[in-house]
Amino acid sequence: MRVEAYERIFMILAGLMLALGIVGIAIGALVAGVHVPSPAGRIDPRAVAATPPFDRPGLRDLGNGQYEAVLIARAWQFEPNQIEVPAGSTVTFTIATPDVIHGFFLTGTNANVMVIPGQISRVTARFDTPGEYVWVCHEYCGFGHHLMYGKVVVR
Ligand code: CUA
Repeated sequence: MRVEAYERIFMILAGLMLALGIVGIAIGALVAGVHVPSPAGRIDPRAVAATPPFDRPGLRDLGNGQYEAVLIARAWQFEPNQIEVPAGSTVTFTIATPDVIHGFFLTGTNANVMVIPGQISRVTARFDTPGEYVWVCHEYCGFGHHLMYGKVVVR
């Protein structure tokens, strides 16, 4: 069987692109440490409000400009729905849900996780510039989905 010259060129180009893509993924995963967000832990969704640290949702000052924000995402609000930190802070959000799948997307950053019943989600963001940073639930979770948001106030 004879292959046209053009066909041969495009087959080679397609093969090269495939190989490049695989090499890119391998470098990303093995060298650059790129990975999909994995659960930071497991939790019984029926007992979220009684399980530390979710029995006391809110902001903890860990010192040295480090904070942990413990959030409960439930239909249809975040608890708490506002935190305040000084500029230059690094905030780790630790989030769980007692009901359905929610999301947590912090606008203007790449902090973006799903909040899945049974899992603890964790994501970190740094805030260098004073302002208000809104977070939203980005997984459709029912009637009040559009009401699920909150914000970080950076002073
Ligand atoms: Cu919670 Cu959408």
